[in-house]
Amino acid sequence: MHYDNTMNQDTLKKQAAEAALQYVQEDTIVGVGTGSTVNFFIDSLASMKGRIEGAVSSSEASTQRMKDLGIPVFELNSVGDIPLYVDGADESNAYLQLIKGGGAALTREKIVAAAAQKFVCIADESKLVGILGKFPLPVEVIPMARSYVARQLVKLGGTPEWREGCTTDNGNLILDVHNMEIMEPIKIERAINDIAGVVTVGLFAQRPADVLILGSKTGPKITTKP
Ligand code: A5P
Repeated sequence: MHYDNTMNQDTLKKQAAEAALQYVQEDTIVGVGTGSTVNFFIDSLASMKGRIEGAVSSSEASTQRMKDLGIPVFELNSVGDIPLYVDGADESNAYLQLIKGGGAALTREKIVAAAAQKFVCIADESKLVGILGKFPLPVEVIPMARSYVARQLVKLGGTPEWREGCTTDNGNLILDVHNMEIMEPIKIERAINDIAGVVTVGLFAQRPADVLILGSKTGPKITTKP
């Protein structure tokens, strides 16, 4: 690939997505995330569809895209643990702890990540931050708990905003929490998970990525969890 300063964000996402193919092992089932970066990964994965067994998907959108490209999609319940999960992120810190859920698929993403031996995160380099929290932290909530959960999130120092018009694949709602400077990601992940009515918080700190691939103007930058 030719690298130069005119590369736009999509080119960098595609670069990271293509670099993730090296982690895909033949004859295995690949965990596949959700989002615009993962869409590039799915398109690349289609080029080796005869050499993999298939995929487990984290959203209806990714399932549809893979089926359209002829990639067999399996239920997680029928495959057990999987060797690899590839997904994007809204933010990553240097410890490969992530904010995810901009596309509202955080719950299934967290489940597939948990079931995977290796989590490879793909993004353009703008997603790397010093402190997590500039990107509003998505929280999936049971609809009847929306207002209660929002009040508890205020007590934790955040400013939750209901993502109106958004229903997750699981039939739930999303609160996006603004103004959180997440100095202790594991602690905040646990505190939010403990609120009654929370299905999942989009902080991936207890189970961070194992590998981060950032598309950059000088080529893919690969970091392994310290
Ligand atoms: C989906 O719910 C998210 O977790 C995505 O992985 C995240 O929003 C990154 O999306 P993009 O690749 O579109 O930036």
